[in-house]
Amino acid sequence: MSDTSMQTLIVGAPSNGVQLVTLNRPEALNALNTQLLGELSAVLDAAEASDDVRAVVLTGSSRAFAAGADIKEMAERDLVGILNDPRQQHWQRITRFPKPVIAAVNGFCLGGGCELAMHADIIIAGEDARFGQPEINLGIMPGAGGTQRLLRAVGKSMAMQMVLTGDAISARQAQQSGLVSEITQPEFTVERALAVAASIARKAPLAVRLAKESVLKGMDTDLASGLRFERHAFTVLAGTADRNEGIAAFQEKRKPEFNGQ
Ligand code: CAA
Repeated sequence: MSDTSMQTLIVGAPSNGVQLVTLNRPEALNALNTQLLGELSAVLDAAEASDDVRAVVLTGSSRAFAAGADIKEMAERDLVGILNDPRQQHWQRITRFPKPVIAAVNGFCLGGGCELAMHADIIIAGEDARFGQPEINLGIMPGAGGTQRLLRAVGKSMAMQMVLTGDAISARQAQQSGLVSEITQPEFTVERALAVAASIARKAPLAVRLAKESVLKGMDTDLASGLRFERHAFTVLAGTADRNEGIAAFQEKRKPEFNGQ
């Protein structure tokens, strides 16, 4: 995929099944304006359709993953503007993306930026990362899933404290709370995220897809329904060539070659 048409993102060519997407609005600490979210939607459309992309790594700069929704753009939008906001569709698009997404977070990860990171399946953070939902300081509240995803990620007390005070937490606190899976030195965050993504990209794509869907299902359903979904997904995979390949490779003591069938 060429990145020539992108003005707010740098889109790498897929390598080892992984596509690196870098938010690139340094003048606004990668604030998420409509154009950026639209471009991200378009990148994900292409990534979903491409067999060369099996996982996506999303990152920002060393100073900021993203400092939130673009406040200057937000200031121009009234109630009707918010109701008709095209950004909602872009957020939906990110939510629906079926392949694994890893957020590699350094620096500020605030407001919509924290919400974007929480759309990822895995967050790997540099030790200088700061996670927060500071919307309350603007007289508003999180509007792209922050109250719901943060609650599920870190539990009620920490979510309430972050949302109601607007105070950010450190990478270490984010890891202790379960928001972040790993912490790295900031210069290695992207490298580590790419390595984790490449590891996932070597697995059977259909198994990865259904496993992701199954875990996400568990975020918004009761245990019995989640277990039922898991059982169906597990059963579906029994009919795939990659499952036969995986088991045969184990028995023949060789590496499997998965082809997504
Ligand atoms: N929107 C638009 N521009 C932003 C921005 C944002 N969210 N965050 C930073 N910028 C811009 C600044 O205006 C500044 O631009 P100028 O030089 O043209 O003034 C530039 O980025 C650099 O920022 P600072 O000079 O403020 O840098 P700093 O190091 O002093 O502070 C910061 C960094 C603490 C992150 C501070 O910029 C800040 O508080 N930003 C806003 C954070 C925020 O409130 N985010 C929530 C937004 S609302 C939201 O996200 C709603 C939602 O849920 C969907």
